[in-house]
Order: sequence, then C-alpha cells, then structure tokens
Amino acid sequence: MSRTCNITVKLDEQIGVINPHIFGHFIEHLGRCIYPGIWVGEDSKIPNCNGLRKNVVHAFKSIGAPIIRWPGGCFADAYHWEDGVGPREQRPRRLNIWWGGEEPNEFGTDEFMMLCRLTGAEPYICVNVGSGSPSEALAWLEYCNYAGNTKYANLRSKNGHPEPYGVKYWGIGNENWGCGGSFDPVYYAWEYRRFATYLKQADRSIKLIACGHTSRDWNYRFMEALRDHIHLVDYLSIHYYFGNAQRYGNDVEFSDEQYLNLLFDVQHLEYQIQQAAFIVDFFSEGRKDIGIAVDEWGVWHPQATVESGLYQQNTLRDAILAASVLNLFIRFSRKVWMANIAQAVNVLQSICLTKGEKTILTPTYHIFNIYQPHMGNIALKADVESPIIREPTEKDYVARQRFQRRLKSLKALDVAVSISRDESNLVITVVNQSLDEDLDVKVTLSGNREFQGGSFAIVNAVDVRAYNDFDFPDNVRVREESLEAARGKEFTFRSERHSVSRLSLKLGG
Ligand code: AHR
Repeated sequence: MSRTCNITVKLDEQIGVINPHIFGHFIEHLGRCIYPGIWVGEDSKIPNCNGLRKNVVHAFKSIGAPIIRWPGGCFADAYHWEDGVGPREQRPRRLNIWWGGEEPNEFGTDEFMMLCRLTGAEPYICVNVGSGSPSEALAWLEYCNYAGNTKYANLRSKNGHPEPYGVKYWGIGNENWGCGGSFDPVYYAWEYRRFATYLKQADRSIKLIACGHTSRDWNYRFMEALRDHIHLVDYLSIHYYFGNAQRYGNDVEFSDEQYLNLLFDVQHLEYQIQQAAFIVDFFSEGRKDIGIAVDEWGVWHPQATVESGLYQQNTLRDAILAASVLNLFIRFSRKVWMANIAQAVNVLQSICLTKGEKTILTPTYHIFNIYQPHMGNIALKADVESPIIREPTEKDYVARQRFQRRLKSLKALDVAVSISRDESNLVITVVNQSLDEDLDVKVTLSGNREFQGGSFAIVNAVDVRAYNDFDFPDNVRVREESLEAARGKEFTFRSERHSVSRLSLKLGG
C-alpha cells in the first residue's frame, strides 16, 4: 500500500511566462565536445550534415533546443573569432590555453551558425573581454549582423553567407572574476560599460549578458558600479556546478546518502538565484527588468578532469537532478530567463555521448525531451503535500559556510506546473526523488475547470545508478502512457520511486 500525496494546482495564481531559453545548451572548445562530438568534417565517414555530426544535430532538434551558447566558457576569453572564419585550410592553429592541446579552428562562427540553423536553436555568442578588445567584439557583431557594404559584412558574404545572421544574445566575457581575466567587480563593470556602449550603439536590437557570480559581493559591487548605466544590462549570468566528491560520490558510484545530498543541494542554487535577483532588482530600482541567465549549470563529477576532457557518465540520478533544477527554473520564471546546461556533448552533464561513429542519448537528454511542452507556457503555483525524505543536518550548514541561514527539508515530490497561453492544456512535471517509495499522487484543480484526459511520459529505470552506454543505449528511456481516465476535478496517478513524470492534460469547463 503506497502513501498518497497531493498536488493542488492554483489555476488563478500565475508566476510568469516560461522563457523557452531556460532549456538552453552550452558548447565549448573543450575535450571532445566540439571535435569530434559536434564537428567531424565533411569528409568524415561519420554521417554528417556539412561536417556536423548528424545524430547530434538530430538530438538537438528533437528536444527543440531553443538556444546554444558558444564558444565558451574559459575558452571564450582567449578566442579570436577571425581565426575561425574563411577557408578552413588557411585557418591558424592555436594553443588551447585552458583545456590543453591545439585548436584547429575548423569550427568557427559560420559552422556555429549552421549548427543553429539546422537545429532551430538561437545562437548566443560570448565575446572575448579578458584578452580581447571592444573593437574585436564590434567587428564580430558587424560580421554576424550587418547587412550593408562594410569590411566585415563583405567578409561574411565572401565566406558564402550574404544574409546577416541576426545574433541577438551576446555575453560580455565569461567568468571574468576567474579565467576571464581575474578582474575585480568594479574593474569588470568599467570594462562592461566600454564593451556594452559600443555594441548596443552598433545594434540596438541585441541583448547583453553581464558576468555575475555566486558571490553576493561580486554581484553587489558590479551592479553598484553600473548603477547609472543600468540600460546597458539585460541579463546577469550566474554559473552553478554541483561538484563535491565527498558529498555526492562519483558519476556511477555513490551511496544513497550521497544521492540525497545532491538533490538536497538544489536549494543552494535556489538561494543563489534569489540573491542575484534581489541584487539586480535593488540596483535597477524599477527602471529596468533585468533577467538572470544561469548560463552554465549541471553536475560536475570527480571523473571530469582537464586530463579526461571533463568527460563523465550520466546516470538516472543526474537526470533526476536535471528535472528538479528545471522545475526550479520554471517556478522562478519571473526572473530566470535563460539557462544553459553544461555541456551538450561529451563534457560534464551531456545530452549526447559519442564514440567513433556511435552517438548515445543520456538520461539527461530524456528529461529535456519530456519537458518540451512547458516551453512558452505560463508557470502556475501549486501546493504540494509530500513525505519528507531528508532533513537538514549540521553538516549541511557547515558545507554552506552558514551563509544560507535556513535550510529546507527535502520533500519526495518536486513539482512544476504550467498552462498553455490559450489555457486549454496543463503540463505538470513531477519528480519522485524517493529511492524506495512509489507514491500515489492526487492532482486537484482549484477553480471551476475540469480535466479532460491527456497523456503521461515517464523517465525511469530499475536502478538510480543506471546509465546508457554504447552497448546498452536504452537502459534509461522514456515510457509513454495514456491518461484518458484523468477526468473531472481530480485524479490520482502512481509516481514511481526515482522517476520523472510529465503529465499533459486537456482542460475543459
Ligand atoms: O564548463 C566548463 C568550465 O566551467 C567553463 O569553461 C567555465 O566557464 C566554467 O568554470
């Protein structure tokens, strides 16, 4: 006999529109992400579309990847974009100072734009602040977006692309408190103002993303220094990696306690989002709504070292974490406007892994797949009653250096709800984080609408340590079922232990 939980959907309590970009991706010239994860070259025997690995293009497309961030990461602040355009055989080879080896520059701006065009994703470019200049960034913008008769617009045409790309999202450096130049926040603010003044003047339609931090001090001092130039900032970015070998174990070997530690710590990311949102709102003083872009996030297991090219396996546990984080972004949709999981192929929490000609889809891919119906919907509030599966401990406060004063208990169920703009469909994503308990979940509607059936998709496997590999690519996959019986004001469904379910429901009445 399983216990019953309750989800009450508050139809009249809207949070905000779910920006599809919260389901975004990130690729960097690091390990085997670009070469040969994405770029294999036109002459490769690996099936490709103009040099891009076909299966990866297909994977991005099938999850409706809305936005892809490139070229880094730490790589961005050492990258000179002109190295990566023009005839490939003439492009210079450069040292990859952050991740080792040599960069052949075969995959550059035009190849990235082709990836975006083939997958339907919006391009998001991160410019070089650390070792670059505003004029280099301006030239890149001109190359990408200008339609007229100028040096860089003509260069793009000469390279076979007469139509401008219209790149809307531009990041002003990456982690400029660290690998992006070791700036202090005030100095970075001055640099930011310089870059942003020229870029915005050249193209007023673009959106700029400033480098923030998971340190309140950086965000506060940066925003304070920018206070009189608030119009130059559209987003503040934060990066969040779940990495702590002792607390979480490794990629495929971890104890039950370590599994729970990982999910418990999602509230630390929540805290970081709250802090960053508070600071941007405080300094913008209502003059401008600035969004938060969590433009790198994911689990960073101890196997992922520079030597291994940050390669790691990806279990059902990682998929459950991804689902709980996406639920969090949905609940914060008023302020989180973009997020990019790191990184799409062969690096950290990937959606695809490749080996020779083979490409497999990870459990995390399946989460992005089933979450698609939330994109562009309106997030709704819901009351969730569920058993507690882990209480805060003294160790948790120590791990957080007591910054976070009040830690919450971890509930078995983590839930996000959205309604389509025409209010005809409801989407509910339910993560059952319990390792040992299936739960019966009663879903109730507040107000006077009724359920009129729907469908159900679930990601699960026999074990939370299950993963997909090249011999067994479907250990973790999606099962789909009908929910036609879900009718009236309430219904009950079974939420399996360590699973992620997506319910799509028609609404009547
Ligand atoms: O994603 C790997 C690295 O993590 C990125 O290059 C950097 O921005 C972050 O520290």
